[in-house]
Amino acid sequence: MAIQKVKENVFSVGVKHWDRRLFDELVPLPDGTTYNSYLVEGSDKVALIETVDPETLNDLFENLKTHNVTKIDYVIVNHAEQDHSGGIPAVLAEYPEAKVVTNDKCRKMLIDLLNISEDKFLVVKNEETLSLGDKTLQFLLTPWVHWPETMVTYLKEDNILFSCDFLGSHFVSSELFVKNEAKVYQSAKRYYAEIMMPFRKKIIGHLQKLENLKIDIIAPSHGQVYDNPKMILDAYKDWTSDNVKNEVVIPYISMHGSTKKMVEYLTDALIKRDIVVKPFNLTVTDIGELAIELVDACTIVIASPTVLTGPHPSVVYASALANILKPKAKFATVIGSFGWGGKMVEKIVGMLGNLKVELLSTVMVKGFPKENDFRALDNLADEIFEKHKSLNI
Ligand code: FEO
Repeated sequence: MAIQKVKENVFSVGVKHWDRRLFDELVPLPDGTTYNSYLVEGSDKVALIETVDPETLNDLFENLKTHNVTKIDYVIVNHAEQDHSGGIPAVLAEYPEAKVVTNDKCRKMLIDLLNISEDKFLVVKNEETLSLGDKTLQFLLTPWVHWPETMVTYLKEDNILFSCDFLGSHFVSSELFVKNEAKVYQSAKRYYAEIMMPFRKKIIGHLQKLENLKIDIIAPSHGQVYDNPKMILDAYKDWTSDNVKNEVVIPYISMHGSTKKMVEYLTDALIKRDIVVKPFNLTVTDIGELAIELVDACTIVIASPTVLTGPHPSVVYASALANILKPKAKFATVIGSFGWGGKMVEKIVGMLGNLKVELLSTVMVKGFPKENDFRALDNLADEIFEKHKSLNI
């Protein structure tokens, strides 16, 4: 474990979880993750910003002990999810004088989730400040990044924004600050796609609010600390904008080769039209990679064989995921194959209700695709080309 200095009297005392590979039993973590906790030592008071996942509490306590922390006045809680808040009861037991500082919505959630006693809270409102002596914390409510109670904390004198999940990444490194921006960009994009994308419109508003602050450092609660905040703020502006790219994402399954042949043909047809294509064979796909590509794609083509009367269950999963992640794609369609019937197209389309997409022509093939089926796929590629052209992408 390591204590790393962020700035004078501001330290990272959280935990690096190098080998964690799954989050929420759902999200793959190819690069591990961190539960960042920050100690801010003012001239009068000491604040701990977030705790850690309960599984790693011993490491947090070891860091606090190593740093000779004998007193914590405030535990600042930006978010109630247990990978940050789960350590609060143990921290309060160790530092009984500490007050939990959070907004009212988060307070209620912490009581529900962790059974924290009512008298432990100091409730703050939007833009309220808390003095630590020579350092001042300001709290800004930023709901839905990614729960309704989320807020961020700004350390005024040092221009540090503690953003919790917002702007973070599931990435672990021995280095505190981002060095490899390209690598962290990709991890942060994966994080955005999996966690934040459903709240794209809300995030646009939060980013605008942040423009009023002078921010030198962004210290999230997952991943490395940004000493070039522009990098992540610009990336978020791009990902959350309405702009889509000239890209088609094709999540697919094929059981006996018919759907695969269709996907291969359509992929080639789109390449010939200078469209970027990302086919994902769902039997070997890291679902996070698919989510990343959904961030920018203009069109989603879902491809499946018919299993009994509907889509393949892996395609059901991918469709459900796309629906809850709410990517900004403008167009979607379904292609696939069947042996004797079924309602595969209707079932997939019925699962995409959250997407604000125009549905393009579907192509369904009985058995293996034949000449007229390939012409239909050519027509679909033409249709996609024209639709993308109409958006000037
Ligand atoms: Fe990292 Fe939403 O918790």
